[in-house]
Amino acid sequence: MSYLAKNYNRKKISFKKGKGSYLYTKNGVRYLDFVQGIAVNSLGHSHPKLVKAINYQAKKLWHVSNAFIIPEGEILAKKLAKKTFADFVMFQNSGAEATEAAIKIARRYFYSIGKPQKNRILCVKNSFHGRTLATIYASGSKKMTEGFGPKVDGFDHFSFGDHKRLKNKISKKTAAIMVETIMGEGGIKTIPDWCLRDLRKICNRNGILLILDEVQCGIGRTGDFFAFEKSKVKPDIVPIAKGIGGGFPIGAVLMNRKAASGMTAGTHGSTFGGNPLAMKVGNTVLDIISKKSFLNNVKKNSKYFHHQLIKIKNKFPKLIKEVRGRGFLIGLQLHRDQTNFIKSLMENKLLTIRAAENVVRILPPLNVKKSEINQALKIIKKVCLKYKQ
Ligand SMILES: Cc1ncc(COP(=O)(O)O)c(C=O)c1O
Repeated sequence: MSYLAKNYNRKKISFKKGKGSYLYTKNGVRYLDFVQGIAVNSLGHSHPKLVKAINYQAKKLWHVSNAFIIPEGEILAKKLAKKTFADFVMFQNSGAEATEAAIKIARRYFYSIGKPQKNRILCVKNSFHGRTLATIYASGSKKMTEGFGPKVDGFDHFSFGDHKRLKNKISKKTAAIMVETIMGEGGIKTIPDWCLRDLRKICNRNGILLILDEVQCGIGRTGDFFAFEKSKVKPDIVPIAKGIGGGFPIGAVLMNRKAASGMTAGTHGSTFGGNPLAMKVGNTVLDIISKKSFLNNVKKNSKYFHHQLIKIKNKFPKLIKEVRGRGFLIGLQLHRDQTNFIKSLMENKLLTIRAAENVVRILPPLNVKKSEINQALKIIKKVCLKYKQ
């Protein structure tokens, strides 16, 4: 009997220990963990530098209110700003809080310049921006909103790739376009670079803000620090979470000076967001991931992984439809429901997770070893042989 609410359909397995790319059950059975908390443990389990950082900070200071200056947060915000398009950073605790704060920032900007009627956010239908009331309506998915009472207004939607509809949906009331640079839950669908550039132009032309949700695809996951970097596009607001904490809950919103201008004292806050413990961990993760050599390694190893997966796809074209994604945000789209395939991978000690459109999502830690990639490939091939008909 579990006293936990039934809002998850959990697999009947638990783990006692994690080390690097592996998870261990209480009986010592080892699983190759290519879920990593859904792109959260960017450096794998129990990374020694993170263990050291958290122990160090735990002995010093865990929590103080944002009513006071938190030096560790000042340092992390400065590093993020120096590294990226951002002029300012606001810390939260999760992805949904970060995307919801991004919505508030966009609306508040227009309010502050005397255009409060510009408050609608244009999003992709069936995207994923979190589970708060506002973000489920931003995501525009019936499955997520059904039964949750009055609709949270202020969101318009277009289908992924439907440029015509996107342009038609922009009105005098639109404040921002918000999209995931790579749709994670939605099936690992990447917005092409030319399209991101077009989005920027559309926003400029209409005087509206561009919000790129990098909660899942950011912080080195694609081999670039941000997934949008390759396009050379500069967004106005970017919510992040997952990877920046390496397993410790951190969310943040990065924004340029213009977007930040409405966020005066008292307009937003968080009791826990930006606490010293989280900030110490965030600084440690960032120092490791933002190194060029680290990101180059992600690029090199993920390229190898993709290449090998495409070979498998070509060998099993009736089973695998497409290899999707970039870097270590990988989707194997099957021609059929993926549930049994994922189950078989797990029986062979490889953990993966589903995404929409029959996609098997593969999310290794960013520092995964080539030998571990090869181990995963061997298991995937074995399972493909089982399901090839
Ligand atoms: C793109 C994106 N945005 C927002 C969220 C919500 O993050 P959280 O679950 O931390 O609230 C997620 C979570 O999967 C996500 O993938």
